[in-house]
Amino acid sequence: MLTVRAPATSANLGSGYDVFGVALENPADVVRVRRAAETAITVTGVGSQYIPEDPERNTVGAVAKELDAPAHIRIDKGVRPSSGLGSSASSAAAAALALNELYDRGLSREELIPVAAEGEALVSGEAHSDNVAPALLGGFTVVTDDGVTQVDANVSLVACLPEISVSTRDARGVVPESATMDEVVSTVGNAATLAVGMTRDDPELVGRGMDDGIVTPERAALIDGYDDVREAALEAGATGVTVSGAGPTVLAVCRRSDRRAVAGAMVGAFDSAGVDSRAYQTAVGEGATVHRG
Ligand code: HSE
Repeated sequence: MLTVRAPATSANLGSGYDVFGVALENPADVVRVRRAAETAITVTGVGSQYIPEDPERNTVGAVAKELDAPAHIRIDKGVRPSSGLGSSASSAAAAALALNELYDRGLSREELIPVAAEGEALVSGEAHSDNVAPALLGGFTVVTDDGVTQVDANVSLVACLPEISVSTRDARGVVPESATMDEVVSTVGNAATLAVGMTRDDPELVGRGMDDGIVTPERAALIDGYDDVREAALEAGATGVTVSGAGPTVLAVCRRSDRRAVAGAMVGAFDSAGVDSRAYQTAVGEGATVHRG
């Protein structure tokens, strides 16, 4: 028996659409595996009622198939599905690491990224690595066609999750097919600023570098109260605010000392817009961890 905890993740960070991602200290999924002749899956925890237990239709079932590693798999969800916090990636990354250990497959964490991404593709329709990469490696990750670059980082965050649902498929549907050269130049500048900020653990640079005028405005329009929540977070001390992944979670960067006030302001602004929400006071954290037993 083996247990793996894999963190929630936040992809894009505004200017890094389909490229940037971070692991969060919390929340997380916990996956337990035991060898078996055939794969069987049980799911408990947040939003488990929406997750199929049929191995043919479950992210984790696809990972077990990829690794040829049949097992009894228990998934305890801490990351709500369709939250923009990489819920399926957490489960997929945890299962990939756990089954790799259980069956001594000998793959490195980097080699497990495409395995976990295949699992995620089952639910999202496309195999992106921008959530599974930080879930496995931790820290801040940059995913391109040529591979993954990772750096540990220590930046405080607030992830405010409203009680509304936005599917990744819908949120990808509103992404523009093209951008002007001015927009591209501005986004490249912001993305570079953000990446430098991560290497310096500098919330000012990271916050400033999250600005994105191409994808984020379209997705923000799908989230009731977004503009007010963003404004409230900035007034409370956030250095930058954006949509987490495909939404509806709104992600704020801040100094650690402002985290509580930013969380309160975001929940308050959602409340004023008639939307219940909860805020995770978190930070860029480590990747999935293995526990025996
Ligand atoms: N980069 C992806 C998106 C993350 O924003 O659509 C969600 O899987």
